[in-house]
Amino acid sequence: MNTPSERIQLTSGDITNLAVDAIVNAANRSLLGGGGVDGAIHRTAGPELLAECRTLGGCETGQAKLTRGYCLPARFVIHTVGPIWQGGDRGEPELLAACYRNSLELAAEHGVRNIAFPAISCGVYRYPLPDAARIAVREVRRFLAGDAQIETVYLVCFDETVRQAYQQALAEE
Ligand code: AR6
Repeated sequence: MNTPSERIQLTSGDITNLAVDAIVNAANRSLLGGGGVDGAIHRTAGPELLAECRTLGGCETGQAKLTRGYCLPARFVIHTVGPIWQGGDRGEPELLAACYRNSLELAAEHGVRNIAFPAISCGVYRYPLPDAARIAVREVRRFLAGDAQIETVYLVCFDETVRQAYQQALAEE
């Protein structure tokens, strides 16, 4: 097994194109769709995804719920709800860390071997990208250090600023 750092890969582009076991959705507490990556995932997955989401009763911030992927190349979608950035002293760092941990735990429970994350909370929810990237890298590394099942975690760089933030965070430890 490779080291935790070797099991983290940066990848560019649209998460809905990735043929991985699971992609993570940066959802809202309703789990009934929205803009950004959430909108893209629902568009590609098709209406059956929304139908399954309606059965889930929403999701609290920091928690995660799993559905099938329907018309996506990914088998599963793990829906997690990131914190809305409100200055950083409303528990945002802990809640964002919980999104990564809970998503990875759920993935491992379902036999996932490779999983892709968008930069949760870094769009509409305005979490500062450098801080969010550091939390993402730290939590993924910690999880992988204690898990032998997940082989690869892809951190999806939707644009160059996201890639730079991850590269910086990966170089820090
Ligand atoms: N593939 C990969 N990354 C993407 C894609 C994509 N197709 N589209 C956007 N991103 P956001 P949030 C990146 O706003 O901040 C929704 O309306 C984007 O560049 O999607 O957690 C939900 O319903 C950014 O880096 O999620 C919620 O209401 C990152 O994904 C709310 O937005 C996250 O941006 C959640 O806001």
